[in-house]
Amino acid sequence: MAKQSYPIVSGVTRHPMMALPTHDDHSRQLFAQSFMNEMNGSYGAGNKVLWDRKVRSQYVREHRREPEHVGDVRRALLREPYTQYWSSLKRCAREMSYESVGPMVERQLPTLIDRARAYRTSNRRLGSLALDPNLRAPRYVSAVHYHAKPGGYLSELTEDDVFAGAEYDCTYFLTGTRPALVGGKAEAEKTAARQRWGAYGPLGDGYAAAVGAWAEVEFPSFRPRRILDLGCTIGHNTLPWVDLYPRAEVYAIDVSAPCLRYAHARAEALGRRVHFFQETAERTTFSDGYFDLVVSTMLLHELTVSVIHRIFAECFRLLAPNGLMLHADMGPAKDMDMLSQIFQLDWNTHFNAEPFITKLSELDLSDVAAKGGFATDDTFRGYAPSTQPGSSAKYHFFGARRR
Ligand SMILES: C[S@@+](CC[C@H](N)C(=O)[O-])C[C@H]1O[C@@H](n2cnc3c(N)ncnc32)[C@H](O)[C@@H]1O
Repeated sequence: MAKQSYPIVSGVTRHPMMALPTHDDHSRQLFAQSFMNEMNGSYGAGNKVLWDRKVRSQYVREHRREPEHVGDVRRALLREPYTQYWSSLKRCAREMSYESVGPMVERQLPTLIDRARAYRTSNRRLGSLALDPNLRAPRYVSAVHYHAKPGGYLSELTEDDVFAGAEYDCTYFLTGTRPALVGGKAEAEKTAARQRWGAYGPLGDGYAAAVGAWAEVEFPSFRPRRILDLGCTIGHNTLPWVDLYPRAEVYAIDVSAPCLRYAHARAEALGRRVHFFQETAERTTFSDGYFDLVVSTMLLHELTVSVIHRIFAECFRLLAPNGLMLHADMGPAKDMDMLSQIFQLDWNTHFNAEPFITKLSELDLSDVAAKGGFATDDTFRGYAPSTQPGSSAKYHFFGARRR
């Protein structure tokens, strides 16, 4: 099947696996999305005004010092009714986005399951799907419903279920945007404008597309033969690697069967060849040196520190000499001012079921890579500019080259 293109409606590609909204679904989703943008935009910026004009001086008077840790600022702000309302409403906005999508996907679930089965058995299929019914997902995945996703990544309520993946694909366009910047009203308005539906592009692939474009410039003669994407969920950020290196074999792994079923069908629908496996990233079944490029997007912030150590060591084992590891995820806390740390990290840890995000922001990834086998001099990090037209977003990545 050739690479397919489909209509783009409200900034989202309507491929055959995408659940379609009725007028009322669409209206609810637009509301949830605008509500979230307001909370991230001008209402979020109100916390900065409150901090600058009132809470900071109050804190210094009470403690006779500036706040030392992001938790000091959070606790002081959360004594204010404005921040309490804002925080509750932001959490409501998150829940509303799921509530505006879930029933829509449920109504279409039998059709989506049938379509996914048809892609799996089609004679014209490009890639493959290998599930492991005996795989036990790690507890840090099974015990947490990340970012308040109902049922988390793993829930399966029916045979060949794809709900977790189908729902992720739709809510991604409502909430999968850059988090709030708190640099004042003008900055908040710019942020809100960037956060329109589909801020990661109509296929939701803007993060890997940006990092891939950076890699292409930085390593012009690099031609990976095999690529592995870790924690691919539904493959939003797997597919840019297929386009960037069309001669490479692309593999993607995740622990979630419902997400992988959807990911495989979606890749087939879009005409991209990817081989999906249900495996854990900390111990895969691939042989030593099998890959030239191992990538992940937005995976690290959902892992415990000890698992990040194990995954970096596994990346080292999997890479052939001169191979590259590239992890795209949020930047370190030291790149942010304290208020941005609260709104991009700390708030999510406390109120949005992202228990490990703050820990990642404090972790020295070069040190983790060195412990995993990479030479410290071969590690690098940076911010890749978005390739989406009109976007000024920059996406953080960390990488290392195996000698
Ligand atoms: C935030 S999502 C990743 C998003 C995805 N890469 C994207 O770009 O849209 C985290 C994913 O990692 C998966 N995951 C978490 N721990 C994992 C592990 N140890 N091995 C494989 N997958 C894992 C989860 O099931 C989930 O699908």
